[in-house]
Amino acid sequence: MLNVGIIGLGGIARSHCDAIATLDDVQIVAVADLFEEPRKQYMETYGIPKGYSSHTELLDDDEVDAVAVVLGHQLHHRLTVDSLNAGKHVLVEKPMALSLEQCDDMIAAAGANQRKLMVGLSQHFYGTSLAAKAILDSGELGPVITGVCYMSKNWTIESRRPQYRSRYHGGGMWICNGVHVVDRLTWMMASQAMSVSASIGTRAHYQAGDDSATAFIRYKNGTAGVAVSVGYADGGPDYSCQIICANGSLRFSEHGEQYVRVGKGDKWEDRPFEDPPAPMTNEWKAFAESIEKDIEPATGGRYGRQIMEILFAAEESAITREEVVLESGLDWTYQPNGAPITTEHGWV
Ligand SMILES: NC(=O)c1ccc[n+]([C@@H]2O[C@H](COP(=O)([O-])OP(=O)(O)OC[C@H]3O[C@@H](n4cnc5c(N)ncnc54)[C@H](O)[C@@H]3O)[C@@H](O)[C@H]2O)c1
Repeated sequence: MLNVGIIGLGGIARSHCDAIATLDDVQIVAVADLFEEPRKQYMETYGIPKGYSSHTELLDDDEVDAVAVVLGHQLHHRLTVDSLNAGKHVLVEKPMALSLEQCDDMIAAAGANQRKLMVGLSQHFYGTSLAAKAILDSGELGPVITGVCYMSKNWTIESRRPQYRSRYHGGGMWICNGVHVVDRLTWMMASQAMSVSASIGTRAHYQAGDDSATAFIRYKNGTAGVAVSVGYADGGPDYSCQIICANGSLRFSEHGEQYVRVGKGDKWEDRPFEDPPAPMTNEWKAFAESIEKDIEPATGGRYGRQIMEILFAAEESAITREEVVLESGLDWTYQPNGAPITTEHGWV
């Protein structure tokens, strides 16, 4: 049994608790939040025995094997490092952190303490995403040519908390949600990003963080993809991703209309996908499995860092209006599923 502590009981902690409730080999033994009201609510709703008023008390609890760091972006780095140093495995919410130095610190702390570090890139674990990736990996559609991924939705500025409207705290649509788009795109492209050219701006709202981004990402196998992340003031939502391969095309989406479709013979055909009991069930399964089997999680620290490097490079490109080459070199040589990245486009 994996005994978990949840740090931070804001909105999304509920999805973590719902997912853990669907698993037999994971249980929540403690929660921590600065405020009594959410502590009481979560403990009552989910039957959690212990509640602490700060993360430091929770980290002193020897019964806790692993923690979920589920609070503001600006706190991810400090709390993850503290948790790893306290000997806990960590699932940290996305975005991993606010600089590459912070990401490096977190990866080093995981290594030094021999604990697992996973980034909660939740859209990686949707049934639709996993089914889409399995189709690409099967080789049925041939080599990937290009991909376009969207997350365009209402920014709901009226209810958006201040930290998500300010880039200083890691807010804005690009860092908050572009991270999901870049993750899905990069994973599907099965290669490592080498450069980015982007346009990012605050175009539909009055706030200190951006609300719209379009990034053109070049991959090391010579292909390129486009990530679109827009928090509009009014419009129609789109969470889709389309990958065009040499022998067929693929489309998938989790929100709005939920589907996985393969395009062949100039027609689209629906393909089956798993619909887990809670949206984060597969994410927690993967985290628990990585600890049990002592394997790198699918969205481990190094993968999470690569995604942040793309996001930060896009921000630089938006300012300089030039293509920005990533510094990471060829160190990222494996996809999260353990398969080598493709450095050459395979010709059919
Ligand atoms: N994966 C997803 O799809 C998804 C969706 C939404 C949010 N998120 C991420 O989850 C994170 C949290 O988002 P949220 O909207 O739930 O946050 P939030 O701001 O609503 O809640 C954070 C909570 O942490 C508590 N807290 C702050 N400091 C603490 C400390 N030192 N010890 C204990 N508790 C402390 C606060 O009191 C608050 O209740 C963000 O990074 C966000 O990007 C992910």
